[in-house]
Amino acid sequence: MHRRDLLVSGAAGSAALLAATALADAAPPAKPKGKTPPGLGKHEPAPLPFKAGSLTGISEKMITAHHDKNYAGAVTNLNKVETDIAALKPDAPAYLVAGLRDKQLTYFNSMVLHEHYFGNLGGNGKRSGALETRLNTEFGAGAWEAQAHATAMGLGGGSGWVILALSMHDGSLVIASAGNHTQNLAFGAPLMALDMYEHAYQQDYGPNHAAYIDAFFKNLAWEVVEARYDRAMKAIAALG
Ligand SMILES: [Fe+2]
Repeated sequence: MHRRDLLVSGAAGSAALLAATALADAAPPAKPKGKTPPGLGKHEPAPLPFKAGSLTGISEKMITAHHDKNYAGAVTNLNKVETDIAALKPDAPAYLVAGLRDKQLTYFNSMVLHEHYFGNLGGNGKRSGALETRLNTEFGAGAWEAQAHATAMGLGGGSGWVILALSMHDGSLVIASAGNHTQNLAFGAPLMALDMYEHAYQQDYGPNHAAYIDAFFKNLAWEVVEARYDRAMKAIAALG
């Protein structure tokens, strides 16, 4: 090897060594603690967290169809939309991109809200804990449930969600009403989710959505709602 080649080779080697050292010193990419994102197009439905036939006033047939068809269907559609978005060419028509982004939000929120809904069912409806105490203090004894019930009645016959949320923006408790999956409290952590889409009650109750709302509260797993509140309060403290 000529001297010049040796010099060039040495310089390239030094540069490579410097680059490798810089990479080794760089902080690893941030990953959310406790959760591993599944990757685009790879979401999987979560199983029901209770026995399908164990609810009071909500039939096995209806809750199974709700989980296996409506919820799991949203997850399947989300995977398809994410895959389609990843395959978009830079010159894709704006209407195509807009449509896919709209559906992405719809299916992603549907997945998240359904998992909160099924997650807060399967209990006995009895309430106690720090959140229950705070709700009674801020809304008046039992008043928040009456407000949530009235909010759900306002959605009856149509579609939407009633969400008891903790605002991560200012720490307040909010009862939010959503006419569809994409209407949600910005930076709100859902503590309790009540599905008011007709598929959630029509089969068992027909137009009697009031009876379905009563059944929802009878099956509410309040300990799950309290655990979500505890976790969200810790997240607020960590965010500062
Ligand atoms: Fe639903």
